[in-house]
Amino acid sequence: MPRGGYDASCLDRLLETDRLEYIDRDDAADGLKRQVIDALDWTGRIFRNHQKFAAIALDLVADVPDPTILELGAGHGGLSRQLLDDHPSARVTVSDVAPASVDALAAGELGAHPRAQIRELDATEIDAADGSFDLAVFALSFHHLAPAQASRVFAEGTRVADTLLIIDLPRPPAPLHLLRLAAMLPAVPFVPFIHDGVISSLRSYSPSALRSLALHADRSIQIELRSGLTLPQIVIARRG
Ligand SMILES: C[S@@+](CC[C@H](N)C(=O)[O-])C[C@H]1O[C@@H](n2cnc3c(N)ncnc32)[C@H](O)[C@@H]1O
Repeated sequence: MPRGGYDASCLDRLLETDRLEYIDRDDAADGLKRQVIDALDWTGRIFRNHQKFAAIALDLVADVPDPTILELGAGHGGLSRQLLDDHPSARVTVSDVAPASVDALAAGELGAHPRAQIRELDATEIDAADGSFDLAVFALSFHHLAPAQASRVFAEGTRVADTLLIIDLPRPPAPLHLLRLAAMLPAVPFVPFIHDGVISSLRSYSPSALRSLALHADRSIQIELRSGLTLPQIVIARRG
């Protein structure tokens, strides 16, 4: 399936890639990967994404007194830190598939937090029992996965948690997407974060693709999509 969905235009179908970001490449230096992860944390703090994403997540568990939250693909852990700061009793399992990120999370502030647990978990095959969490959240990571794996996240996220929240880059209409890519391209050879940003943009899923991925995962999964000029792509998924 094209990243723009089965109904994607010809131009949209050209605006995608199988190329991997530095943080997904086995042959990329650890220092380079760390630089991209740190830059993500920095932009999350500067543009207040950690706060915005935590507010979206906590709103979904507002009725649960002491919610259990699983963060998948946590990377630097900025969102988990914010969730713990903003909720007095939430328990957060902070996870990533990359052992280096898990080690860094365990060695940092979250590793010593009394309401946090650090785990190495693959979002496509989550090592947890059904219904273990009130909420699972996967932020800025979904586009890393090819369609077959991405569909697995819908199945697994809604199996282990009552609600799955995916927050990701929006896929703009193709002409706008082309302009955005053109503006970023000159910096690609010099700035690793922009290199990964361009690939992320080309790998982002459209609303139509997200609906197909959820349907493919399980017909009982119902999704709500939210987006807007100033919003990322937000997907809320639950089993019906
Ligand atoms: C772009 S970073 C996002 C980090 C952080 N969530 C944020 O919002 O900035 C993508 C993260 O997804 C993780 N990731 C990629 N594939 C994954 C998978 N199958 N399961 C869990 N995490 C995965 C990567 O290791 C990386 O830490």
